[in-house]
Amino acid sequence: MHTIVLATQKGGSGKSTLAIGLALAARNAGHTVRLIETDPQGTLSNWQSRRGTAEPMVETIYNVGRIESRLEQLERGGITLTVIDTASGVSAVTAAAIRCADLCLIPSRPTITDIESSAATLKAVRAWQKPFAYVLNQTPVRGRRIDNAASALGGEDAPDMNEMVARPFISMRNDHQDALASGLAVGEYAPTSKAAEEIGQLWRWTEARLNGATRERDTLAKATFPPALTPRVAQRTENTPAQPLPPSGEGLTPWDACL
Ligand SMILES: Nc1ncnc2c1ncn2[C@@H]1O[C@H](COP(=O)(O)OP(=O)(O)OP(=O)(O)O)[C@@H](O)[C@H]1O
Ligand SMILES: [Mg+2]
Repeated sequence: MHTIVLATQKGGSGKSTLAIGLALAARNAGHTVRLIETDPQGTLSNWQSRRGTAEPMVETIYNVGRIESRLEQLERGGITLTVIDTASGVSAVTAAAIRCADLCLIPSRPTITDIESSAATLKAVRAWQKPFAYVLNQTPVRGRRIDNAASALGGEDAPDMNEMVARPFISMRNDHQDALASGLAVGEYAPTSKAAEEIGQLWRWTEARLNGATRERDTLAKATFPPALTPRVAQRTENTPAQPLPPSGEGLTPWDACL
């Protein structure tokens, strides 16, 4: 069994939305999935009430001491993927979930302030030496600011970016909100939509990471901050061509400058 934990200190970044989207995409791919909610806010439980079916099952765990033993039970019971949705902030129960993770996904809107807000989460992830990736969520549908910046860096070929920033970026689309309101995942609500396509691709990226397409943590620890998210690049307007990046990462914000 693999365990994915969606965590970040910043509220409203998309943890619950992505947890549901990924869980259902994984189920479609043949996994037996369990969603675990450690957030008393109850986004997943409420979603399941609207859904009206018990599949996939949402389980609440608020007790720090319960997580590890419950995951062991689920694995023995034949669950192949557990997706844990956590509350914003870094609570003891979130730290316990991170400790059990095979992969931590850190959703973030694509701004420097949102990324900086994830510092405490990243610190916990690093403390347990867990594989992680940022998921850039609610990115603008129009405007190629982020893509341009990523391309200027080397884009898809830049190794640090490939490991630390999940692909694709998840655009801001109403289908995500409407799906949740209907008790559905976006892949069920609007199966042929761009939103569903992006979530499907994100699941395939995640699955590849889970299946070992990861590099050594030491390498990740030395990685630089994603240049696409540095203030200098982020301030460009849509019509401004991508700026060439300085050689050897010179002038870029260090990845862990916010820690
Ligand atoms: N890609 C997206 N496009 C459009 N809306 C989105 C997207 N991702 C999330 N949202 C919306 O943003 C809001 C916050 O998302 P969500 O509840 O998933 O965040 P969260 O990180 O779980 O928040 P919290 O910290 O409160 O638990 C919700 O209304 C959700 O529908
Ligand atoms: Mg939530």
